[in-house]
Amino acid sequence: MASFLTCSSTLFTLIFIFLITPFFIVTDAKFSEQLPGPKASHVVEKMSHLHFYFHDILSGKHPTAITVAGRKNEFGGTAIIDDPLTEGVEHGSKVVGRAQGMYAKSSLDAASLLMVMNFEFIEGKYNGSSLSVLGRNPFLETVREMPVVGGTGLFRFARGYVLAKTVRYNVGTGDAVVEYNVFVMHH
Ligand SMILES: *[C@@H]1O[C@H](CO)[C@@H](O)[C@H](O)[C@H]1NC(C)=O
Repeated sequence: MASFLTCSSTLFTLIFIFLITPFFIVTDAKFSEQLPGPKASHVVEKMSHLHFYFHDILSGKHPTAITVAGRKNEFGGTAIIDDPLTEGVEHGSKVVGRAQGMYAKSSLDAASLLMVMNFEFIEGKYNGSSLSVLGRNPFLETVREMPVVGGTGLFRFARGYVLAKTVRYNVGTGDAVVEYNVFVMHH
């Protein structure tokens, strides 16, 4: 008898919890919800490697980088860029995308940049897809690594890194060509 009573009161408690609980979680579900994630076997993460040259042009009639705040070679100097990304190192080489964003001299010795930019691609299957890079660029070092923090289109859920290496630099004008190797995992 005693065990029957315990059992039925446990049952009653369970029914009570099931009836009441939805009222407590319903408001929560509106702000954020867990989507039924794809089964592990359905997600095929791809690793892509991209290689291109970034042309930062400060001189001439059509600069692709303009200083918008501070002084170019001093702490605080900030530039907005819309730099072409090309297949080959030459300026006239096929354009595969553009690097749009900004960089700022963010170290007191003015030897390091904060870079915030989106690579917008226009070539082949990546046409319309983009990658976002946010990182520290100590540009006097031979190879600089910066994180890829996200992407769109074919690069949804992207994460990875870039290796940037200056291959041409004009001391007089500040024009530079930088080789980019991008390693990115995405869906
Ligand atoms: C990229 O996509 C745009 C818009 O859909 C299209 O106009 C353009 O021709 C495409 N470029 C290449 C190289 O496929």
